[in-house]
Amino acid sequence: VAGTRSRISVIGTGYLGATQAACMAELGYEVLGLDVDHAKIDSLSAGRVPFYEPGLEEVLVRNLDNGRLRFTSDYDEAAAFADIHFLCVGTPQRADSNAADLAFVEAAVDALASRLTGTAVIIGKSTVPVGTAGRLAERIAERAPAGADIHLGWSPEFLREGFGVEDTLRPNRIVIGTGSPVVEAAMRELCAPQLEQGIPFLVTDLPTAELVKVSANAFLATKISFINAMAEVSEAAGADVIKLAQALSYDDRIGGKFLGPGLGFGGGCLPKDIRAFMARADELGVEPALSFLREVDAINQRRRARTVDIARGLIGGSFAGRTVAVLGAAFKPNSDDIRDSPALHVASAIADLGGKVTVYDPEALERAKQEFPDLRYAHSMLEAARDAEVVLLLTEWAEFRDADPDELAKVVAEPRIVDGRNALDPAHWRARGWTYRALGRP
Ligand code: UGA
Repeated sequence: VAGTRSRISVIGTGYLGATQAACMAELGYEVLGLDVDHAKIDSLSAGRVPFYEPGLEEVLVRNLDNGRLRFTSDYDEAAAFADIHFLCVGTPQRADSNAADLAFVEAAVDALASRLTGTAVIIGKSTVPVGTAGRLAERIAERAPAGADIHLGWSPEFLREGFGVEDTLRPNRIVIGTGSPVVEAAMRELCAPQLEQGIPFLVTDLPTAELVKVSANAFLATKISFINAMAEVSEAAGADVIKLAQALSYDDRIGGKFLGPGLGFGGGCLPKDIRAFMARADELGVEPALSFLREVDAINQRRRARTVDIARGLIGGSFAGRTVAVLGAAFKPNSDDIRDSPALHVASAIADLGGKVTVYDPEALERAKQEFPDLRYAHSMLEAARDAEVVLLLTEWAEFRDADPDELAKVVAEPRIVDGRNALDPAHWRARGWTYRALGRP
């Protein structure tokens, strides 16, 4: 691959692809982003990021303006534009099982490979079950036109929503799985700005690269469920899991990150990735190796049920006809993503039990309304809390962490709060007259 190295295409412009496209342009490359969803392409072309990601719109607009970044829905254009193509399409959970749905990845590979000419590189970034890349390589070979010489690599993406720009420009490592020296050389050249910063660069085979991604997410999920299991024990034993986590964190073999007890993990990645990983282990005949992830998932689900129970206990045993305020809808702060959101799971469970639930979130209200049209919504924290008999803090936005207990007390019917994210100072809230309950603390 020579001559056009400064041009790349990015196939799929969701959270991952839009961020990848804008950041590659920011690094100086000419980038063409492709998506089959015309609404996404129109929005991105007009400088609007169709989801909430701090800092991304600025990078997008700057690079649209300087002409390094464009978007299209036309595969012919993308195939002709560059000879390095990043695959960033989604791999959601299948409707009929826990496995990953590879339809988008396969469709993208088919559409692209059949149009490539000469020497070209495809680098997958989507999260896929181990073994997928090997099968895609065969698929590419079958579809490649005569004369095309297509090389496949897999370079998993580790970006966190809410930190997408930072994580893409300065990842903590770059992994490239490939058997092809052409791919390795192309990646080294593309990542030169990052290699200069000393960011570790690991070359592996295809299955190892695929596994790095899912095992990283499995480890993170396990760490969260570990501390949430300790929260369950703490609740039974009258111990304080926050103090416990703090004491554990000083052991740098354990570390303090992802040791935050609370309502547990949600989002479009951790929950579906551990399920797809178990499904794949099953297919590979090593199901027992990952059976612990079933527990990780179960512990995580139990935190949601426990949060509902604590709130119900606080108001005397039944939600029927009771007014409940839910603060938070996004699966985590600094995101408007509500996929598998613990907050909305709890809100709708309480509504199902007869509670009159009003939800407020600084960014995720529109998405929440679409998915959960039967819940009530408010446009501020105080509006949501009006006349509430219990308030639940379920996504730890800064706005909620900094809430003034006296202000909130003025509007609620009863000053009772369930801190589902251990985001508040219990002593402070209790001193202001609140009945305060949290997960894993007395
Ligand atoms: C996760 C990984 O952190 C990324 O490295 C990965 O690239 C990404 O998935 C992906 O596969 O694409 P993300 O889903 O954006 O990123 O969110 P996280 O910041 O990991 O949070 C996941 C969930 O865990 C959230 O619901 C959060 O509230 C929860 N969490 C996190 C806890 O309950 N406790 C903690 O201590 C940390």
